[in-house]
Amino acid sequence: MPEPIIIVDDVHKSYLMGKEAVPALRGVSLEIQKGEFVCLMGPSGSGKTTLLNIIGGLDDASRGHVIVEGENLVALDENQLAQLRLTKMGFVFQNYNLLANFTAQENVEAPMVLAKTGRRERKDQAQALLERVGLADRAHHYPSELSGGQQQRVAIARALANDPPILIADEMTGDLDTETGYAIMELAKQLNQEGMTIVFVTHDPRMAEFAQRVIELRDGKILGD
Ligand SMILES: Nc1ncnc2c1ncn2[C@@H]1O[C@H](COP(=O)(O)OP(=O)(O)O)[C@@H](O)[C@H]1O
Ligand SMILES: [Mg+2]
Repeated sequence: MPEPIIIVDDVHKSYLMGKEAVPALRGVSLEIQKGEFVCLMGPSGSGKTTLLNIIGGLDDASRGHVIVEGENLVALDENQLAQLRLTKMGFVFQNYNLLANFTAQENVEAPMVLAKTGRRERKDQAQALLERVGLADRAHHYPSELSGGQQQRVAIARALANDPPILIADEMTGDLDTETGYAIMELAKQLNQEGMTIVFVTHDPRMAEFAQRVIELRDGKILGD
Protein backbone atom coordinates (compact mmCIF):
# COMPACT_ATOMS: atom_id res chain seq x y z
CA MET A 1 0.00 0.00 0.00
CA PRO A 2 1.70 3.23 -1.11
CA GLU A 3 1.76 5.97 1.46
CA PRO A 4 1.82 9.55 0.18
CA ILE A 5 4.30 11.70 2.09
CA ILE A 6 3.62 14.79 -0.04
CA ILE A 7 0.29 15.73 -1.61
CA VAL A 8 -0.01 18.78 -3.85
CA ASP A 9 -3.62 19.54 -4.66
CA ASP A 10 -4.56 22.02 -7.37
CA VAL A 11 -1.88 24.52 -6.44
CA HIS A 12 -1.92 27.89 -8.16
CA LYS A 13 0.58 30.67 -7.58
CA SER A 14 0.73 34.15 -9.02
CA TYR A 15 3.29 36.83 -8.31
CA LEU A 16 2.33 40.46 -8.40
CA MET A 17 4.50 42.47 -10.76
CA GLY A 18 3.33 46.04 -10.28
CA LYS A 19 -0.39 45.69 -10.79
CA GLU A 20 -0.20 42.60 -12.91
CA ALA A 21 -0.50 39.06 -11.54
CA VAL A 22 2.06 36.83 -13.25
CA PRO A 23 1.07 33.17 -13.00
CA ALA A 24 3.90 30.84 -11.98
CA LEU A 25 1.79 27.73 -11.24
CA ARG A 26 -1.58 27.02 -12.83
CA GLY A 27 -3.21 24.11 -11.08
CA VAL A 28 -0.53 21.56 -10.16
CA SER A 29 -1.58 18.30 -8.50
CA LEU A 30 0.68 15.41 -7.63
CA GLU A 31 1.35 12.80 -4.97
CA ILE A 32 4.76 11.64 -3.87
CA GLN A 33 5.02 8.34 -2.00
CA LYS A 34 7.36 7.64 0.87
CA GLY A 35 10.76 6.57 -0.47
CA GLU A 36 10.36 7.96 -3.98
CA PHE A 37 13.21 9.65 -5.85
CA VAL A 38 11.51 12.31 -7.94
CA CYS A 39 12.91 14.79 -10.42
CA LEU A 40 11.10 17.95 -11.49
CA MET A 41 12.21 19.09 -14.92
CA GLY A 42 11.26 21.92 -17.20
CA PRO A 43 12.66 24.99 -18.88
CA SER A 44 13.66 28.10 -16.99
CA GLY A 45 10.58 29.95 -15.74
CA SER A 46 8.33 26.86 -15.83
CA GLY A 47 7.65 27.06 -12.09
CA LYS A 48 10.05 24.45 -10.67
CA THR A 49 11.48 26.60 -7.89
CA THR A 50 8.04 27.98 -7.06
CA LEU A 51 6.65 24.46 -6.69
CA LEU A 52 9.57 23.27 -4.54
CA ASN A 53 9.31 26.33 -2.31
CA ILE A 54 5.58 25.78 -1.82
CA ILE A 55 6.14 22.08 -1.01
CA GLY A 56 8.86 23.14 1.41
CA GLY A 57 6.68 25.73 3.12
CA LEU A 58 9.10 28.49 2.08
CA ASP A 59 6.36 30.17 0.06
CA ASP A 60 2.57 29.83 0.10
CA ALA A 61 0.14 28.92 -2.63
CA SER A 62 -2.38 31.45 -3.96
CA ARG A 63 -4.89 28.61 -4.25
CA GLY A 64 -4.93 24.89 -3.50
CA HIS A 65 -3.02 23.14 -0.75
CA VAL A 66 -0.05 21.01 0.18
CA ILE A 67 0.05 18.19 2.73
CA VAL A 68 3.39 16.99 4.08
CA GLU A 69 3.38 13.91 6.31
CA GLY A 70 -0.30 14.44 7.02
CA GLU A 71 0.06 18.15 7.87
CA ASN A 72 -1.83 20.65 5.78
CA LEU A 73 0.65 23.51 5.44
CA VAL A 74 -1.98 26.26 5.25
CA ALA A 75 -3.38 25.15 8.61
CA LEU A 76 -0.05 25.68 10.40
CA ASP A 77 1.02 28.88 12.10
CA GLU A 78 4.53 30.31 11.59
CA ASN A 79 6.02 28.36 14.50
CA GLN A 80 4.49 25.06 13.49
CA LEU A 81 5.65 25.61 9.91
CA ALA A 82 9.18 26.43 11.06
CA GLN A 83 9.18 23.29 13.18
CA LEU A 84 7.97 21.17 10.25
CA ARG A 85 10.67 22.63 7.98
CA LEU A 86 13.30 21.97 10.61
CA THR A 87 12.40 18.34 11.32
CA LYS A 88 10.66 16.95 8.22
CA MET A 89 12.60 18.47 5.34
CA GLY A 90 16.21 19.12 4.48
CA PHE A 91 16.92 21.75 1.83
CA VAL A 92 19.80 21.95 -0.63
CA PHE A 93 20.25 24.82 -3.06
CA GLN A 94 22.34 25.57 -6.13
CA ASN A 95 24.60 28.03 -4.32
CA TYR A 96 25.19 25.85 -1.22
CA ASN A 97 24.06 28.72 1.05
CA LEU A 98 26.62 27.90 3.73
CA LEU A 99 27.39 30.40 6.47
CA ALA A 100 30.79 31.84 5.48
CA ASN A 101 31.98 32.49 9.03
CA PHE A 102 31.12 29.01 10.23
CA THR A 103 33.28 25.92 9.71
CA ALA A 104 31.87 22.89 7.91
CA GLN A 105 31.08 21.30 11.24
CA GLU A 106 29.40 24.45 12.60
CA ASN A 107 27.29 24.70 9.45
CA VAL A 108 26.10 21.12 9.95
CA GLU A 109 25.39 21.83 13.62
CA ALA A 110 23.30 24.94 12.88
CA PRO A 111 19.92 23.21 12.31
CA MET A 112 20.52 21.15 15.45
CA VAL A 113 21.12 24.32 17.45
CA LEU A 114 17.73 25.54 16.19
CA ALA A 115 16.19 22.20 17.15
CA LYS A 116 17.74 22.56 20.63
CA THR A 117 19.76 19.37 20.38
CA GLY A 118 22.31 19.02 23.17
CA ARG A 119 25.92 20.04 22.50
CA ARG A 120 27.50 16.58 22.70
CA GLU A 121 24.88 14.95 20.49
CA ARG A 122 25.17 17.82 18.01
CA LYS A 123 28.92 17.38 17.70
CA ASP A 124 28.67 13.62 17.33
CA GLN A 125 25.89 13.85 14.76
CA ALA A 126 27.74 16.56 12.76
CA GLN A 127 30.90 14.45 12.71
CA ALA A 128 28.98 11.36 11.67
CA LEU A 129 27.26 13.27 8.87
CA LEU A 130 30.48 14.82 7.58
CA GLU A 131 31.94 11.34 7.51
CA ARG A 132 28.82 10.12 5.71
CA VAL A 133 29.39 12.66 2.91
CA GLY A 134 33.13 11.94 2.77
CA LEU A 135 34.39 15.08 4.48
CA ALA A 136 35.45 13.93 7.93
CA ASP A 137 38.86 15.52 7.37
CA ARG A 138 37.40 18.92 6.42
CA ALA A 139 35.27 19.49 9.51
CA HIS A 140 37.21 22.54 10.66
CA HIS A 141 37.56 24.18 7.26
CA TYR A 142 35.59 27.25 6.25
CA PRO A 143 33.45 27.21 3.08
CA SER A 144 35.98 29.41 1.24
CA GLU A 145 38.59 26.68 1.81
CA LEU A 146 36.43 24.03 0.14
CA SER A 147 35.69 23.24 -3.51
CA GLY A 148 32.16 23.63 -4.88
CA GLY A 149 31.53 19.90 -4.66
CA GLN A 150 32.79 19.81 -1.07
CA GLN A 151 30.62 22.78 -0.12
CA GLN A 152 27.61 21.01 -1.58
CA ARG A 153 28.45 17.91 0.46
CA VAL A 154 28.52 20.06 3.59
CA ALA A 155 25.14 21.50 2.56
CA ILE A 156 23.77 17.95 2.18
CA ALA A 157 25.16 16.97 5.58
CA ARG A 158 23.48 20.06 7.03
CA ALA A 159 20.20 19.14 5.33
CA LEU A 160 20.38 15.74 7.06
CA ALA A 161 21.16 17.17 10.48
CA ASN A 162 17.77 16.69 12.13
CA ASP A 163 17.20 13.36 10.37
CA PRO A 164 14.34 14.56 8.14
CA PRO A 165 12.44 12.01 6.03
CA ILE A 166 12.42 14.32 2.99
CA LEU A 167 15.23 15.97 1.03
CA ILE A 168 14.35 18.87 -1.25
CA ALA A 169 16.99 20.08 -3.68
CA ASP A 170 16.84 22.94 -6.18
CA GLU A 171 19.46 22.66 -8.95
CA MET A 172 21.96 21.23 -6.47
CA THR A 173 24.36 20.27 -9.27
CA GLY A 174 23.81 23.47 -11.26
CA ASP A 175 27.13 25.08 -10.35
CA LEU A 176 29.19 21.89 -10.49
CA ASP A 177 31.08 20.24 -13.33
CA THR A 178 29.57 17.01 -14.67
CA GLU A 179 31.81 14.60 -12.74
CA THR A 180 31.22 16.39 -9.45
CA GLY A 181 27.51 16.61 -10.23
CA TYR A 182 27.40 12.83 -10.79
CA ALA A 183 29.14 12.26 -7.45
CA ILE A 184 26.55 14.43 -5.68
CA MET A 185 23.73 12.53 -7.43
CA GLU A 186 25.33 9.21 -6.39
CA LEU A 187 25.23 10.42 -2.81
CA ALA A 188 21.56 11.37 -3.20
CA LYS A 189 20.86 7.95 -4.69
CA GLN A 190 22.43 6.23 -1.67
CA LEU A 191 20.36 8.36 0.69
CA ASN A 192 17.27 7.37 -1.25
CA GLN A 193 18.23 3.70 -1.03
CA GLU A 194 18.42 4.16 2.74
CA GLY A 195 14.79 5.27 2.68
CA MET A 196 14.86 9.01 2.20
CA THR A 197 12.22 10.61 -0.02
CA ILE A 198 13.95 12.97 -2.44
CA VAL A 199 12.48 15.65 -4.67
CA PHE A 200 14.99 17.48 -6.79
CA VAL A 201 14.88 20.01 -9.58
CA THR A 202 17.26 20.00 -12.51
CA HIS A 203 17.23 21.01 -16.12
CA ASP A 204 20.10 18.64 -16.88
CA PRO A 205 18.79 15.37 -18.39
CA ARG A 206 21.98 13.57 -17.26
CA MET A 207 21.15 14.32 -13.62
CA ALA A 208 17.46 13.48 -14.14
CA GLU A 209 18.59 9.95 -15.13
CA PHE A 210 19.19 9.23 -11.45
CA ALA A 211 15.50 9.63 -10.57
CA GLN A 212 12.87 6.87 -10.60
CA ARG A 213 10.25 9.33 -11.67
CA VAL A 214 10.44 12.50 -13.74
CA ILE A 215 7.73 15.15 -13.64
CA GLU A 216 7.77 17.66 -16.49
CA LEU A 217 6.63 21.19 -15.82
CA ARG A 218 5.84 23.64 -18.58
CA ASP A 219 4.34 27.09 -18.07
CA GLY A 220 3.25 26.28 -14.54
CA LYS A 221 1.50 23.03 -15.42
CA ILE A 222 2.44 19.37 -15.36
CA LEU A 223 3.10 18.24 -18.90
CA GLY A 224 4.08 14.67 -18.10
CA ASP A 225 4.70 12.33 -15.19
N1 LIG B 1 9.44 36.40 -6.45
C1 LIG B 1 8.92 36.48 -7.68
N2 LIG B 1 8.32 37.62 -8.10
C2 LIG B 1 7.78 37.69 -9.33
N3 LIG B 1 7.77 36.70 -10.22
C3 LIG B 1 8.37 35.55 -9.87
C4 LIG B 1 8.97 35.37 -8.58
N4 LIG B 1 9.48 34.11 -8.52
C5 LIG B 1 9.20 33.54 -9.70
N5 LIG B 1 8.54 34.38 -10.52
C6 LIG B 1 8.05 34.09 -11.88
O1 LIG B 1 7.35 32.84 -11.81
C7 LIG B 1 7.65 32.04 -12.94
C8 LIG B 1 8.22 30.71 -12.48
O2 LIG B 1 9.49 30.93 -11.86
P1 LIG B 1 10.37 29.81 -11.17
O3 LIG B 1 9.50 29.00 -10.29
O4 LIG B 1 11.54 30.45 -10.58
O5 LIG B 1 10.78 28.91 -12.42
P2 LIG B 1 11.98 27.88 -12.62
O6 LIG B 1 12.53 27.53 -11.28
O7 LIG B 1 11.36 26.73 -13.34
O8 LIG B 1 12.98 28.57 -13.48
C9 LIG B 1 8.58 32.85 -13.81
O9 LIG B 1 7.80 33.50 -14.78
C10 LIG B 1 9.17 33.84 -12.85
O10 LIG B 1 9.54 35.02 -13.52
MG1 LIG C 1 14.43 27.66 -10.50
